[in-house]
Amino acid sequence: MSNRIDNLLHEARRFPPTEQFAADAIAGADLYEAAENDRLQFWADRARELLHWHTPFTRTLDWSNPPFAKWFDDGALNVAYNCLDRHVLAGNGDRIALHWEGEPGDSRSYTYSELTSEVKRAANLLTSLGIRQGDRVAIYLPMIPEAVISMLAVARIGAVHSVVFGGFSAESLRSRIDDASAKLVITADGGYRKGSVFPLKQAVDAALAADGESTVSHVLVVKRGGNEVEWTEGRDLWWHDEMVAVDDEHVAKAFPAENPLFILYTSGTTGKPKGILHTSGGYLTQTAFTHRSVFDLHAESDVYWCTADVGWITGHSYVVYGPLANGATQVLYEGTPDSPHPGRWWDIIQKYGVSIFYTAPTAIRSFMKAGRQIPQQFDLSSLRLLGSVGEPINPEAWIWYRDVIGGGETPIVDTWWQTETGAIMVSALPGVTTLKPGSAQVAIPGIQIEVLDDEGHDVGLDSGGLLVVSEPWPSMLRGIWGDPERYKETYWDKFGDKYFAGDGARRDRDGDLWLLGRVDDVMNVSGHRLSTAEIESALVSHPMVAEAAVVGAEDEATGQAVVAFVIVRASQADVATADEASALLRAHVAEQIGAIAKPRTVFLVAELPKTRSGKIMRRLLRDVAEGREVGDTTTLADTQVMQIITDRLK
Ligand code: WT7
Repeated sequence: MSNRIDNLLHEARRFPPTEQFAADAIAGADLYEAAENDRLQFWADRARELLHWHTPFTRTLDWSNPPFAKWFDDGALNVAYNCLDRHVLAGNGDRIALHWEGEPGDSRSYTYSELTSEVKRAANLLTSLGIRQGDRVAIYLPMIPEAVISMLAVARIGAVHSVVFGGFSAESLRSRIDDASAKLVITADGGYRKGSVFPLKQAVDAALAADGESTVSHVLVVKRGGNEVEWTEGRDLWWHDEMVAVDDEHVAKAFPAENPLFILYTSGTTGKPKGILHTSGGYLTQTAFTHRSVFDLHAESDVYWCTADVGWITGHSYVVYGPLANGATQVLYEGTPDSPHPGRWWDIIQKYGVSIFYTAPTAIRSFMKAGRQIPQQFDLSSLRLLGSVGEPINPEAWIWYRDVIGGGETPIVDTWWQTETGAIMVSALPGVTTLKPGSAQVAIPGIQIEVLDDEGHDVGLDSGGLLVVSEPWPSMLRGIWGDPERYKETYWDKFGDKYFAGDGARRDRDGDLWLLGRVDDVMNVSGHRLSTAEIESALVSHPMVAEAAVVGAEDEATGQAVVAFVIVRASQADVATADEASALLRAHVAEQIGAIAKPRTVFLVAELPKTRSGKIMRRLLRDVAEGREVGDTTTLADTQVMQIITDRLK
């Protein structure tokens, strides 16, 4: 790791904004100045400038009970009204909100007027199903317009959505439904992925059939895949039947700024995912501000595309709330990048004239591998700004992205943030910052970042430490659903009043930030967060497994890959060959959690390396997984164990 960073710090290429870009840019250096002069005033100004408040706020931040923040809390607004009605009322109803592209090639566009009507209908429908302010609604949908419509309809009536990524298993869905006591599930029969239909309704049925009473009274089903579904009378309802039966008039009521907007589950260091809670006014302020200034959004002329699924925070903040609050025109794509042909994304950029494009390094690396001749078959000249998120982008990928996709001219913004931060925290501003490939660069205006050692001292320039946010920010998480203790413990106990992000970082001599990856037992696979403990507990739930240890090993394509070390129960040792057992266990993890958590490799071992106090030494397993000489083993309870493991794997 430190070798890699030393190499990175020798990265000398610099890309200042062109004069033209700087002159036309939405955000200028004055924003930093304003924020430095008065941070709270800066955010209050953004909240007033970018949003419509039904009741104006007078208090900006209440931090009297840390770490529980309240922003703009005597104000009231309606999040969906801010994303829809006000654009229509301002005369922009005919502007396209969504250019939706289905994987099989079907497409649909929605103007702001049309999207507003659909959301009003859906809001009436939810109300007719008994959903009220504060109730939780689970959304388990493919990337279709109904996903956006559902989220906004839930927000419009002051209820709380919990979007569950369509790739998660029935088990994962059920645990999220239970944790939040969801009353309603919105799903589809199925969606398209890699040329075929994957079932979703079936997983909902399985989730709700699991042991124990569920809190769900209805399942609303969008028809998308056309696949066969089973039907539970009285519980299941077709979206299209219900939507025609309700009115498309609906007056948006105002809700307090701190009304919960959504819960989104993310992996932590224990087996149980955390329900990250976000609220309304502060979240919408910071997503709208960052979307506009980091992506330099000119809403009248830009076509924006963020490739994230709405099942992740990037989809919440930079597909739904940020762009729609800003009245952007955007592309929404259902499927995979290479379906039905390897140039599908570039085809879409050409088709809609996309000008701002936001994706993840893992995707860029896989396109690099496939070769530049694929994107070069398409006209990408509409692009003027590129973004990256989810993991560090290595300089080679950065340069390739700029040269091949950006025609050698576009700025690239590398944006660091988290499910918990709600919105971008560290990034260049494209009309201001001189870009440095590989570095996420600087805190955005109004955000305070520090790099500290374990004792809470600033490590200064040029040495590694822990990334913290030292002042509360508008879109910060308000807690972990149902677990205030875990919220305090996870993020605040380490440094008292400063938020501990779980990432290592280093500032170079110019003060620019370089992200060094997670410092806890959390892996980052293709920009998705996975917990070692969660995968271990999925593995030991299989009758064949006595013990399991999981590590994230460096992987060229996915950043990190899941590698599992498993001890098979003695009684099961002869049931399957090693290859069979490892295939079986990989499939078991996919079934328990979802395909994204599937280990790349499962090694069957006789022992696991443990300290005398019984803690698994993952560092040593990582050495094995990454094919290195095994490091210092002197603190092991049994110093022979690594020899046993490596011998067995030869
Ligand atoms: C973790 C958060 C934020 C949306 C996507 C992931 C890593 C995220 C970057 C970046 C280096 C990054 C961090 C962070 N991460 N963006 N630009 N450079 N690392 O959201 O699932 O909540 O994961 O992703 O490790 O802690 P998430």
